[in-house]
Amino acid sequence: MSFGYIPTDYNVRCYYKNGKWGEIEISSSESINMHMAATCLHYGQEAFEGMKAFRGKDDKVRLFRMSDNAKRLQSTCDAILMPQMPVDLFSDMVKKVVKLNDRFVPPYDSGASLYIRPLMIGTGARIGVHPADEYLFIIFVSPVGPYFPGGFSTNPYVIIREYDRAAPLGTGAFKIGGNYAAGLRANKLAHDLGYSSEFYLDAKEKKYIDECGAANFFAIKDNTYITPKSSSILPSITNRSLMQLAEDMGLKIERRPIPEEELSTFEEAGACGTAAVISPIRCIDDYELKKSYVISKDGKPGPISTKLYNELRSIQYGDVADKHGWVTVLD
Ligand code: PLP
Ligand code: COI
Repeated sequence: MSFGYIPTDYNVRCYYKNGKWGEIEISSSESINMHMAATCLHYGQEAFEGMKAFRGKDDKVRLFRMSDNAKRLQSTCDAILMPQMPVDLFSDMVKKVVKLNDRFVPPYDSGASLYIRPLMIGTGARIGVHPADEYLFIIFVSPVGPYFPGGFSTNPYVIIREYDRAAPLGTGAFKIGGNYAAGLRANKLAHDLGYSSEFYLDAKEKKYIDECGAANFFAIKDNTYITPKSSSILPSITNRSLMQLAEDMGLKIERRPIPEEELSTFEEAGACGTAAVISPIRCIDDYELKKSYVISKDGKPGPISTKLYNELRSIQYGDVADKHGWVTVLD
C-alpha cells in the first residue's frame, strides 16, 4: 500500500455561519457543492491538517497527538483570518470519522495506518480581497502506506535553489494549501531528477536548511539531535515527538540554524512528518552548486534514527506505554 487516496464510507462536516459552528454532519458523498466566488477558490483561504490512526495488537484504534493537530489548525486559522475550530469539536469529529470508517483502519501487522485529513475552506462569496463570512470544515480519511519509497530505508534528496516555498515572514509556519502550490515546481524538478523530494534553504540568505518537501529535517551528530530553527518551516508534531524521545534516550537537543556545509558532518539524517514518519536520508545533493553530501555511507538507516523510529511506532501502535500522554485510545 502506498500513500494514495482510497475512498472510504463516510466523511464528517461542520459549517460555520452567522458567527458560529453548527452541528456535526455525516456524509457519504465525496463531493462538495460551493459558490464559484468562495474565498478558498480565489484567495487561498484554505487550511488543512494531517494525522493518523493506528490499529494495535489488541485491535484497539489509537489516535496520535490529536489535540496538537487541533491547536496547530487554530494557529493556521489565525494566520489567514479564518474562525478557530474549538479543540473539543475537532476531537469529536476526528473520533467520529475514524469510528465510522473502522473497517478501513489497516490491521496491526500491515504496518499501514489510517491517514486523517481535516481541512477548512472559506465558502462565503467575495469578489474583493476579504475573508469569507462562511466556512466549511471537513474530515476525510484514507488508509495509507509509506510516503517515501521503501518506507524506512534511505533515499536521495536534492536542494533546489530555484524556487522558494515560503518567505521568512510569510505563511511557511502554517499548514495552508498555498505553501504546497508554491512548492509544486521544486517537487516536480526533484522527482524528474530522480530524487525522493526537494529541500528548501532559507529564502532570505539561501544559507541554512529549512525543510524538506512535506517533512521537517533532523540530523544526528556527537550524540545530539539537531533540527532547524526557522520562521518559515511547519512546526512538525512528529519532529517535536522525536525531540522528546531523543531527550529520553539521553541525546542533547539543538534547535538552531543549520548551514548547508554542516551537512557533510552529520552521522545520520532524516525527513520526518506524519506521512513520512522518519525517512532516513542517504544523500543530499545541491543541484545548482553541483555538490553532494553523502550522509549514509553504507546506504542503511543509522542506529539512532532506527531506535527513534521503532520507539515512535511502538507508541503509536500501543506496543509500549504512552508515557507522554500522546495517544487517545478509541472505545
Ligand atoms: N513540514 C511540512 C511542510 C509538512 O507538510 C509536514 C506534514 O504535515 C511536516 C513538516 C510534518 O509535520 P507533522 O509531523 O506535524 O506531520
Ligand atoms: C503530513 O505529513 O501529514 C502531510 O501533510 C504531508 C502531506 C502534505 C502529504
